[in-house]
Amino acid sequence: MPQRSKAPQTQYLTSLTQLPSRSRTKPELAILIYDRIFEKSAAEFLSHFPFKFAVTSGESLKTIESFSSFCERLSRSGFDLPARQITVVAMGGGSVGDFAGFFASVYKRGVRLVHLPTTWLAAIDSAHGGKTALNVGGAKNQIGTFYPAASTCLVRSILESSGDRQVVDAFGELVKIAIIDGGAWVDALESSRLHGSALLWKFLKPAVESKMKIVRRDPREEKGLRQVLNFGHTLGHVLAAITQGLFFALEFSHQRRLLKDASFERAMSLMAGLGLVPNPPAKALSAGDLTRALLTDKKREAAGSVTFVFLRDFGRCERKSIPVTEIVAEARRQGWAQ
Ligand SMILES: NC(=O)c1ccc[n+]([C@@H]2O[C@H](COP(=O)([O-])OP(=O)(O)OC[C@H]3O[C@@H](n4cnc5c(N)ncnc54)[C@H](O)[C@@H]3O)[C@@H](O)[C@H]2O)c1
Repeated sequence: MPQRSKAPQTQYLTSLTQLPSRSRTKPELAILIYDRIFEKSAAEFLSHFPFKFAVTSGESLKTIESFSSFCERLSRSGFDLPARQITVVAMGGGSVGDFAGFFASVYKRGVRLVHLPTTWLAAIDSAHGGKTALNVGGAKNQIGTFYPAASTCLVRSILESSGDRQVVDAFGELVKIAIIDGGAWVDALESSRLHGSALLWKFLKPAVESKMKIVRRDPREEKGLRQVLNFGHTLGHVLAAITQGLFFALEFSHQRRLLKDASFERAMSLMAGLGLVPNPPAKALSAGDLTRALLTDKKREAAGSVTFVFLRDFGRCERKSIPVTEIVAEARRQGWAQ
């Protein structure tokens, strides 16, 4: 399979017109799976692809039913080429990337994959590292493969058109990877005077490289090293807000005296500088609901425990197996649960 033989290429492009040549994709040999919101705004680009399939993004796309109906659509389209000639292009946010990536990994036993992420979240995080996924019966990411793209194309004009809400969500991912990595680029991030999407574009490359540095050491999550990328996820997933999960993990690390005052303050001021503030839900979670949510999370380890990622310093995370009761007690202390 082509994408297994070489390290994935990440391209930083200013506009969509650069895509086919820079990603070495022949539109006539491609299956383009795209978020239908681009039907009009990217009509010119789409018109080059004879085999293109609009999908509705979101968690309902990542189901076995929608996967199976997509396979039938493709089969009815008359597309048929040898596997080695085919490229799947995934154009959309993380849900489209997870779905199309999974499809590419199993279609004809694996064909070339190009990611064209259109949300900042996907551009910083989900399009890199090779995880693909479908949900089963409401449980997220139960079926999936590790299937890195041959090429990931980050297109500034698309990302910049995605709106303020997406920018704020992506700041959480940017801060997460900055704190985990702690490299020199983080000093530049702290002193940057840029805002919004200009700031995200400037720090996209070091953020992606920082994630890939970790992924390369544990590409299939076999050694546990890749788990540091879950920093902030434990409560973040329960609250569906990575930024809030980061506040919880930072405070928990500080409370346990793993994280020194100076580094804690540094992380908090980095978040504040980006306008990120703790925002507990109006109605705190009940201890019972939080316990249930934590125990169904995929980071569950042994009965009653989960792997929690603590921060010791910028660039230094520590994984520990923690009884869920301790996490719930800390969430109550911090006011996230009652
Ligand atoms: N594979 C991984 O490593 C990984 C990592 C993190 C998250 N994920 C997955 O990613 C998904 C969440 O990511 P997401 O928020 O990008 O998903 P998404 O695809 O659901 O997109 C979110 C929304 O943004 C819209 N959108 C997409 N591009 C846009 C643009 N340029 N302008 C305006 N709106 C746009 C979509 O139509 C959708 O309504 C989840 O399914 C999650 O499980 C995967």
